[in-house]
Amino acid sequence: MIDYKDPKYTSTERANALLSLMTNEEKVGQMMQLAYKFMTREEALEWAKKGLGSYLHVLGDNADELQRTAINETRLGIPIIFGIDCIHGHALNEYATVFPTQLAMAQSFDREAMRKCGRVSATEVRCDSLHWTFSPVFCIGRDTRWGRINETFGEDPYLIGELGAAIVDGYQNNFVDNTCIMACAKHYIAYGESIGGRDAYDSMVSERMIRETFLPPFEKAAKAGCKTYMTGYQSVDGVPMNSNRRLLREVLKEEVGVDGFIITDWANVRSLIDNQKVCDNFEDASRVSIDAGNDMIMQTEEFYDATLKLIENGQVDMKHIDDSVFRILKAKFDMGLFEHPFEKPDRSKICCDEHVEVDLEVTRESMTLLKNDGILPINTKKVRKIAVIGPNADDLEAQYGDWSCGAANGHRKPATSMLKGIKKRAKKDGIEVVYKKGCDIEKPGKRGFNAAIKAAKESDLIIAVMGDYIELNGEYKSRATLDLPGEQTALLIELKKTKKPIVLVMVNGKPLCINWEAENMNAILETFNSGMVGGTVAAEILFGDVNPSGKLPISFPRTAGQVPVYYNYLPGWHGDNKYKDIEEGPLYPFGFGLSYTTFEYSNLSVSKTEFTEADGEIIVTAKIKNTGKVKGTEIAQMYIHDVVGTVMRPILELKGFERVELDAGEEKTVSFTLPVEELKVVEQNLERVLEKGDFEIMVGGSSVDLPLITTIKAV
Ligand code: BGC
Repeated sequence: MIDYKDPKYTSTERANALLSLMTNEEKVGQMMQLAYKFMTREEALEWAKKGLGSYLHVLGDNADELQRTAINETRLGIPIIFGIDCIHGHALNEYATVFPTQLAMAQSFDREAMRKCGRVSATEVRCDSLHWTFSPVFCIGRDTRWGRINETFGEDPYLIGELGAAIVDGYQNNFVDNTCIMACAKHYIAYGESIGGRDAYDSMVSERMIRETFLPPFEKAAKAGCKTYMTGYQSVDGVPMNSNRRLLREVLKEEVGVDGFIITDWANVRSLIDNQKVCDNFEDASRVSIDAGNDMIMQTEEFYDATLKLIENGQVDMKHIDDSVFRILKAKFDMGLFEHPFEKPDRSKICCDEHVEVDLEVTRESMTLLKNDGILPINTKKVRKIAVIGPNADDLEAQYGDWSCGAANGHRKPATSMLKGIKKRAKKDGIEVVYKKGCDIEKPGKRGFNAAIKAAKESDLIIAVMGDYIELNGEYKSRATLDLPGEQTALLIELKKTKKPIVLVMVNGKPLCINWEAENMNAILETFNSGMVGGTVAAEILFGDVNPSGKLPISFPRTAGQVPVYYNYLPGWHGDNKYKDIEEGPLYPFGFGLSYTTFEYSNLSVSKTEFTEADGEIIVTAKIKNTGKVKGTEIAQMYIHDVVGTVMRPILELKGFERVELDAGEEKTVSFTLPVEELKVVEQNLERVLEKGDFEIMVGGSSVDLPLITTIKAV
């Protein structure tokens, strides 16, 4: 007989041994996760005694108390797993490191940086007795009206899969020690396609499209060993994800074959009754949720009694319950929770110098220069006085973005607003800085205009810090318009009349329609939500201490009516993405970003011009030269175009990217590995196959600047 407490056995053996000892009550308890903040301490302890599988949003001593109860006061002593939304840093600890949001970090196109951020966040989260984050988001951000765009890695499935897998690896790190946490790939699947960009409605996508576009990032998560997956709020083709047996059980669990478990999103079981109306009681809602493949139920207390009743009446397949409990137990064994339920890193790790350094590194890569007429970097000889103007110059909350839950009010030393960062850097060169807010983000009123205009007139340069704020981003915060809100453009129009040069620094959760600004500003730096050190880094870039290297992970629409305007669309009959009343294409395209230097591409070559599936991969190389006067980093991008398919093929698909650092005048060869798997097509019968024929391979600096092209052939 295997003793489940004995670590000499494998986690599979231990989980099976433990499962065989469990009562139905203990099993159903393990399948539940409840939110601590919605119950009293006594209620929480009661649930711990019943053998609750997991809590969310409780930390530190409170979590430890629940853990002691679970271990010492239950028959089998199964430890609880504590979960948290550590989305771009440990959001429940206001002293923790706050990274840029996923959308902001995606500008770095840097896998290794993502891994490092995952390591830092995991370590800090573990300090507070937590073991699991509901991150990263693998949703595809195509409809920029959607409120949760800031949580995505942008619009491209390849980029999302690569960066997401890297951060999963960073969080989990093979559970080698007490700095590792479980990752959760969410929100399965096609959540971002919710109609009209409205949050959590129906996503009208076919299974073929799911397999071709939305599944691959989750497959990369699975390949990276991601331990958990979250079922989205939305329905797909009229079937709520929570009851979607086809996509959850058959596709994700059985076909992709994830080694781990699936958790529902918040109150998804209840939603089947209250909102989505496919069930009218908890027994039914619990039954379809289990049948569909969900293993752990987030925040629906009624699930407990309802499921016990289902078991008693033989209305639920015990095989499914056992499979769910096995998966949950195995994950707990895999991460060493039975051996080290209380072990945590030293608290001095939270926001330590080493972690701030990682944050600085990634933030330096996570800003994109969208326009520059030569005004940047700031000429410190000519510019002696700067007017910093705008509602986001001195607003840490707007800068941090969603899921930083009050961190902006923490007493974190490195926390630097844009204003603070600019002031500090300007001081080094003895430059005077004056600040006027000018206007609010949304509130109407031009009362602040005069003071801002006066300050502008008395300065040599205006740095306008504008954008949006957290009220316009996040869950249920979709927008129908995407313009710079409130009076901000009106203020810029007035500032422009002063004839002083204007640099616009954007602090925002999603691409905004900044046509007038694109035309009229001297320079634009996109920072999205850059987190804790955003102000320091923006100043470094503005003053030329750091050469910007970010590229856009998402296209900028010209107007909301053009959304979605992603680059990898299927070709139409009447030209590309055209409308009668606006210029064609996005304002700023996917992959675009300027530098203080220039790069030249040459010598494209491929390891094979003809290939079969058996070849496994193709190596694509090209030369890149820094043709400017300063050192810089280029994000070299490789795209493919499948020339003819049995189903329509996107006009372009990103399939490789590498960051290449080059001194002025230096030339390097960049090499991309193109797995043949990435060239496959999901055919009408839903099979994924390599179709014979030509593929164009293109390399360059953005989706609209691909000077190198060659053709390879699948034979
Ligand atoms: C969100 C999830 C999140 C969960 C737990 C839900 O409202 O959709 O992304 O992980 O809450 O906080």
